[in-house]
Amino acid sequence: MREVRSKPFLKWAGGKKQLLDAFESRIPMELREGGLSTYIEPFVGGGAVYFYLNSTFNFKSCHIFDINEELFLAYTVVRDDVDSLVNHLEELSVKFLSRDESSRKEFFYEVRDEFNQTKAEVNLNRFEPSWTSRVANLIFLNRTCFNGLFRVNSKGQFNVPFGRNKNPKILNAELLYADSGVLQNTEVHRGDFALSAPYISDESFVYLDPPYRPLNQTSSFTGYSMDGFGDDEQRRLARFFSECDRTGAKLMLSNSDPKNTDLNDDFFDTLYSEFRIERVPARRMINCDHTKRGEINEIIVTNY
Ligand SMILES: C[S@@+](CC[C@H](N)C(=O)[O-])C[C@H]1O[C@@H](n2cnc3c(N)ncnc32)[C@H](O)[C@@H]1O
Repeated sequence: MREVRSKPFLKWAGGKKQLLDAFESRIPMELREGGLSTYIEPFVGGGAVYFYLNSTFNFKSCHIFDINEELFLAYTVVRDDVDSLVNHLEELSVKFLSRDESSRKEFFYEVRDEFNQTKAEVNLNRFEPSWTSRVANLIFLNRTCFNGLFRVNSKGQFNVPFGRNKNPKILNAELLYADSGVLQNTEVHRGDFALSAPYISDESFVYLDPPYRPLNQTSSFTGYSMDGFGDDEQRRLARFFSECDRTGAKLMLSNSDPKNTDLNDDFFDTLYSEFRIERVPARRMINCDHTKRGEINEIIVTNY
């Protein structure tokens, strides 16, 4: 086992940091015994689970997927162009921190406008240096925006306002280098979770963390991208889970527990009835209503 230092370089909605202990105790025995050589994460988001697992166990290779293109760019740049990313962030950090409050705010909106206006120009098929400045802007916005979130509106524009943090750590070079090292055995993919199928075999551990099924009308926070992830998508994912099960891979999936708000809601119990379903307490971090940030259950489904 390597020393665990690596963790997400972005704050991401649905981040799983607070559930790592619950996952740790449910890791398949075969992984601890070195019997699983590939790690697959079809909804990687900020990668809390990915960075933890890939810095703890010696996987031969990992495949991470997300439908969000900015994440594809971010992981690729941190893996392949970290020196230049650090330089860009250093520059942004100095420019930002040397200003007073109102001019910091102005600078934030300049970077946000540039980020939104240049989206269409990005060629996602081949690395180019503009990827690195874009990822630096993304990390800068993530550190300085309200609540440190990444959220886009229906036009795909990053629309989170300026945040209140007086002393944001825009550059964390040590962390970026640690993450870059961990990413070296990893292929980064963009697109739908189903694209991960060809990489899954009886040598794989797969962790699936889809967008939460909203607990009620008001907590319908699924704005990760322009596409929603409704109940039909949850059903498509359950079919995919069963297909992956047949490969002999070890699978773990998490989601919100509908029974938090409706004890009779058996949505996931029905979908995953063939598998082991456990309920674990989780602190939900993202809720518009601060009084509702209490403890609720999360479900963990495993096929082992
Ligand atoms: C709950 S978050 C993952 C959080 C992650 N485990 C973490 O710790 O940050 C779900 C992710 O699924 C992605 N997503 C949404 N629909 C998807 C799809 N059809 N295929 C792949 N990824 C998708 C979103 O962009 C989001 O990053």
